[in-house]
Amino acid sequence: MNTSRKSFIKTLGALGVMPWAIAQPTSSKPRVELGNSSIISNPKTLAVGSRNALRGVERAVSMMSEGKDPLDAAVEGVKIQELDPNDMSVGYGGLPNEHGVVQLDASCMHGPTKRAGAVGCLEGIKTPSEVAKAVLELTDHIMLVGDDAKTFALQLGFEEEDLLTERAREAWLRWKRNLNPNDNWLNDDESNPYSTGTVHISACTQQGDIGSITTTSGLSYKIPGRVGDSPIIGAGQYCDQRVGSAGSTGRGEANIMACGSFYVVERMRSGESPEQACLSALQRVVEMTEPRLLDENGKPRFNLNYYALNVQGEFGGATMLKPSDRALDNGGGTFAVAEPGNARLEPMAWLFD
Ligand code: GLY
Repeated sequence: MNTSRKSFIKTLGALGVMPWAIAQPTSSKPRVELGNSSIISNPKTLAVGSRNALRGVERAVSMMSEGKDPLDAAVEGVKIQELDPNDMSVGYGGLPNEHGVVQLDASCMHGPTKRAGAVGCLEGIKTPSEVAKAVLELTDHIMLVGDDAKTFALQLGFEEEDLLTERAREAWLRWKRNLNPNDNWLNDDESNPYSTGTVHISACTQQGDIGSITTTSGLSYKIPGRVGDSPIIGAGQYCDQRVGSAGSTGRGEANIMACGSFYVVERMRSGESPEQACLSALQRVVEMTEPRLLDENGKPRFNLNYYALNVQGEFGGATMLKPSDRALDNGGGTFAVAEPGNARLEPMAWLFD
């Protein structure tokens, strides 16, 4: 974002519990009474996110260590992926819809102000995360979509750019050639070219202020106008200052049906560790899945991931399906975690072997 826009905005306005998930309450910490549960608040500077957010969580923690707001820090973190043409799941270089047009979704929440913002089907703007944050900061609304979301962004000074990189265009053409063996395109043997990659960051300051953001180019080669889970508050991400924060990547339709990120936060409110809450949400997703999408053993034919942190300084992540041995060898089944001076990938729990 350029400086003039910044100042404009400013002016306007297996189910095992991992060792880190074990609560270490001390009676000197403030206690937040929540329904029939009580949560010991013991926050620390911490950010978690999807695996592709490793650089992002590091940046977010570094910014929060300098006193920056958690949502500002999280947005700067995900922007690394939005602006990276090599990440084909988000922002510039993201895979396009079936017409070859890149359409982006994003949403964010800010714990201290209890605000949310989102954009859906945004075209031509590299950083939908910033536009979602502008909706949060500048308007009395929560979601803007399509051409009107773009107009809003252009009015704020965002630049319109061509988001379709040559690499993404070639991938789209490959998909198109292989759509139907009986059509007039010559086929090659490309298999399962669909992707639902996304980037999420949840961030918490030492004072317990929380921000969360999820941004994506959505399902590759989607029907134009399709909006996934990422811009849906409570699905793509959710945070509650009194409890913690959660976000998701993977099959958006499944996550929307379960209100997944909201559910993770509610399970943490009930006392579950972040990792257990992520697994509980995955279980809820399975319960909400139509038979067409389950195999003969009741296992989903798609993958979905949750990431979470809480105000006790704990964190966790879980994925629906155990990654293949080859994927595990290549760092699959991990999520990004950063504390001051220590950014790393941590293993996720999984629901199904
Ligand atoms: N989770 C990304 C999407 O389904 O759009």
